[in-house]
Amino acid sequence: METPSAGNVKFFSGESIPLELHRVRMVQKLNLWSIEHRLKSIQEAGFNSFLLSSRDVFLDMLTDSGTNAMSDKQTASMLEADDSYAGSQSFCRMEDSIREVFGKQLVLPVHQGRAAEHIISQVFIKKGDVVPMNYHFTTSKAHIELAGGKVLEIFTDEALNIASNCPFKGNIDLQKLEKVIADYGADRVAYIRMEASTNLIGGQPFSLENLKEVRKLASRHNIMIVMDASLIGENAYFIKRREAGYQNTSIKEILLEMCDLADIVYFSSRKVSSSRGGGIIMNRRDLFDRMRDLVPLFEGFLTYGGMSVREIEAMAVGLMETLDESVISQSPSFVEYAVNQLAARGIPVVTPAGALGCHVDAKGFLSHVPQAQYSAGALVAAFYLVSGCRGMERGTISTDRDENGNDVLADMELMRLAFPRRVFTLSQAMFVVDRLTWLYKNRELVGGLQFKEEPKVLRFFMGRLEPVSDWPVRLMQRFRAELGSEF
Ligand code: F0G
Repeated sequence: METPSAGNVKFFSGESIPLELHRVRMVQKLNLWSIEHRLKSIQEAGFNSFLLSSRDVFLDMLTDSGTNAMSDKQTASMLEADDSYAGSQSFCRMEDSIREVFGKQLVLPVHQGRAAEHIISQVFIKKGDVVPMNYHFTTSKAHIELAGGKVLEIFTDEALNIASNCPFKGNIDLQKLEKVIADYGADRVAYIRMEASTNLIGGQPFSLENLKEVRKLASRHNIMIVMDASLIGENAYFIKRREAGYQNTSIKEILLEMCDLADIVYFSSRKVSSSRGGGIIMNRRDLFDRMRDLVPLFEGFLTYGGMSVREIEAMAVGLMETLDESVISQSPSFVEYAVNQLAARGIPVVTPAGALGCHVDAKGFLSHVPQAQYSAGALVAAFYLVSGCRGMERGTISTDRDENGNDVLADMELMRLAFPRRVFTLSQAMFVVDRLTWLYKNRELVGGLQFKEEPKVLRFFMGRLEPVSDWPVRLMQRFRAELGSEF
C-alpha cells in the first residue's frame, strides 16, 4: 500500500531544516513584552521560571509536559467520552491502544507519571533497598527516597560529556551494573530502572542492544526491570535513526520490542501521548495484583485513576499517533535544528541532539559563575530577560540538598529549552537561537543567584531566589544600549 512521507524530508539546498507535516488550524496569541516588563516579572517570580505567569512569557519552553499540540482527532475524541464512574468505555479504548502500542495487557491508570512512581516505589521498595538506573529523574528519585530506597546512577563514561557524538548516552554501564548487584546482593535491588530518552542528561536515548543486555543480567539475578516510558516515542525514533539494523524497522515494532524487555512500564501521558494522565502497564498478574489496591486509594477508581475521561480519550488516540513517524519526529527535529545552529555559533550545548529540548551547558556558557551560585538558574533568568522565552533549570537547583543540608552540585548544569511537539514554528526557533547568541556575546554581565526561600523537597518548583548583584539591571541596560527600543 502506498503511504505518505513520514518525515525527514530533505531540502535540496542540503540544509537540515525540520519540515512540518501538519497544518495549523487553531492558534493562540502570544505576548512579547518589553525587557523592563520582563525584569519586573522575573523579579516577582523570585528568579524561578516556574513562578512566572504564562501571560508574561513569549515562547513557553519550560516543558513538553501537557504542552504538546493535540491533533484534530484527539480533540474530536474528547467529545465521545464516557463519564461512567466504573467500567467507562473510554478506559476500554485506552486499554486497547496500550495493548496495541506497548504490547502490555494489564493497565493501571494514574493521574500522571509521578503517581505511577509513587505506587511502584511504595509497593516494590523496602527500606535499605537500592534502585540502579541509567539516570534519575527528579520525581522518580523523590519517590524512591520517600519509600526508603537509594538511587544508584550507573551511566557510561560518555553520558556526562557535553560535546559528544555517542548516539546512546542513555545506556547503562553493564559492568558497573554487575558490580552493583554483586556489592549489594540481588535481594536488595528493588528493580532496575531504565528511563527512555534520559531526561536530565539532555534527553539522551538508550539502545535496544543495551536494554537487551540489561534484560539478560536482570533475568540471571531474578531482578525486575521497570521502564520509565514517558519519552519512549523519541527513544524509539532515535533507535530507528541511529542503531544499526533498525533503519527498516517500524516505530511500532521498536516500541513493542522495548516494552517486551521490561516487566513493568510506566509513563506520563502528559508527554508520551500529548494528553494528560499516566499509566502503569504489565503482563504479569502477580505484579498487577500487588499494585492494584493502591490505585483506588490514591488515584481514583480503576477505570479512570484520577484522569478526566476526556483526557483518557485523547490519550487513546495520542498513543496511536505516537506510532506515526511524522508526529514523533517533530520535537527531535526542532531540537536538532536548534542544537546545530547553536553549536555552529560556538555556544556550548549538549550533543548529539536528544529528545524534548535543546540543553545549553551553563558551566560552559557562564564559566565565570560558580556552580554554587546556580549558573543554570542564572542562565534561565538571563535568557528570559533578553528574549521573553521561558526555559527550565536542570542542574543544582533541581537537585535537593543532602541529608546534612549541603548543596549537591549537579553532574550537569543545564538550561533546557523544550520543544513540545508541533507547537513552535521555524522562525520562533530562529528567534531563540538569535537571542541566545546575543546573550552569549554579553555573557560576562550575567551573575549568580542565591536562595531566599527554599523548600526541602523538589525545591526547584517553588523556591525563590535573588541575584547576587544588580547584574539583571546591567544586562537590561546593555540590551537597551545596543538594541534601542527593540522588544
Ligand atoms: N519521568 C520522566 C522521564 C519525566 O520526564 C517526567 C516528567 C516524569 C517521569 C513525571 O511525570 O510530570 O506526569 O508526573 N517530566 C516533566 C518535565 C515534568 O518537564 O520534564 P509527570
